[in-house]
Amino acid sequence: MSFIELKNITKYFAGTSNPAVHSLNLGIDKGEIITLLGPSGCGKTTTLRMIAGFEHPTDGAIEIDGKQIFNKTHALPPEKRGIGMVFQDYALFPHMTILKNVMFGLNKWSVREKKQRAKEVLELVGLEDFANRYPTQLSGGQQQRVALARALAPKPHVVLMDEPFSNLDAGLREKMRFDVTNILRKANTTAIIVTHDQKDAFAVSDRVVVMKDGVIQQIAAPKEMYRCPKNCFVAQFVGKTNLLTGTMDDDQRHIHTHIGKVCLPDQWKEHVETVKLSIRPEGCQLAEQGAYCGVVERVTYGGEYQELYVRLHNQPELSSEPMLIYAPVEQDVEIGRIVSFDIKPELIALVE
Ligand SMILES: Nc1ncnc2c1ncn2[C@@H]1O[C@H](COP(=O)(O)OP(=O)(O)O)[C@@H](O)[C@H]1O
Ligand SMILES: [Mg+2]
Repeated sequence: MSFIELKNITKYFAGTSNPAVHSLNLGIDKGEIITLLGPSGCGKTTTLRMIAGFEHPTDGAIEIDGKQIFNKTHALPPEKRGIGMVFQDYALFPHMTILKNVMFGLNKWSVREKKQRAKEVLELVGLEDFANRYPTQLSGGQQQRVALARALAPKPHVVLMDEPFSNLDAGLREKMRFDVTNILRKANTTAIIVTHDQKDAFAVSDRVVVMKDGVIQQIAAPKEMYRCPKNCFVAQFVGKTNLLTGTMDDDQRHIHTHIGKVCLPDQWKEHVETVKLSIRPEGCQLAEQGAYCGVVERVTYGGEYQELYVRLHNQPELSSEPMLIYAPVEQDVEIGRIVSFDIKPELIALVE
């Protein structure tokens, strides 16, 4: 049994016919960092709020550390669940110093203990010198670390963070992904982070849970999620990809598609007649005598690489998307050029 168990959780909001969350099952290990990833409205915040106790599931049960905190007949109030919450806007008290903000959640402790613990967590988040400042005197990244310190102070079973990086600009965002993960690891805390950004999810988590319309689509470590997406939705949500339909060869290794024969990384476990393939653009590499050949229809400069949209010679005009492939920036490729490329089998996956 996992440290946190979400068992068959369903949530209908009053007056709605579709559930915001549908039959969700998820087990989380102690010390694990999990992200719930999905488009806006897929039920991420609702799931987090049900764990926190701000919202009650219509059906299902929630357990933390072997203790039922929610079931049909019993709901432990939020303050008794041992949960630390970091809100999207940090929700710091503007009229209190950083130290007081962090001490706030420790109401049952003595003043001396409160101060000591607050100083300890401020040191953990690298803000021990800012204890006497007020929130407005801190940068966005520092405010977030205070919010995290406040959540960690009472030594919760789990820290919940809703879109923690969405208020930060690109540079700071990258730094905070690193800082937050570091702090959570050092505190040895279990954490559930909600985000709609694939890069956030991949950078911070042990495992990612992709959701769509209230339903879990796949649970996997970042690399596995990217390499072996379960279905078309996941394949497209966690990165750019080419989706092709094809028929499987008798050898269960080769797929016949409109761009030609494509080789899978391994022999497929069973024979399936019609299949869908996801081919990552970085799996397609320009080569003098490549197996695939086509005309460059569009070029987008992406900074670290160029995105080439290539219409294959044997690909019917307009009836299908051109192939997206990445080319090194130093390579001169203009629209109309004929290019040939190979496809690395490791970046090909069969999807539902
Ligand atoms: N209090 C509410 N009352 C009715 N519907 C709600 C309420 N909160 C959320 N929803 C609906 O539930 C679905 C999931 O919302 P939410 O969990 O906030 O999504 P996410 O955080 O993934 O963007 C959405 O369709 C949203 O409109
Ligand atoms: Mg949300």
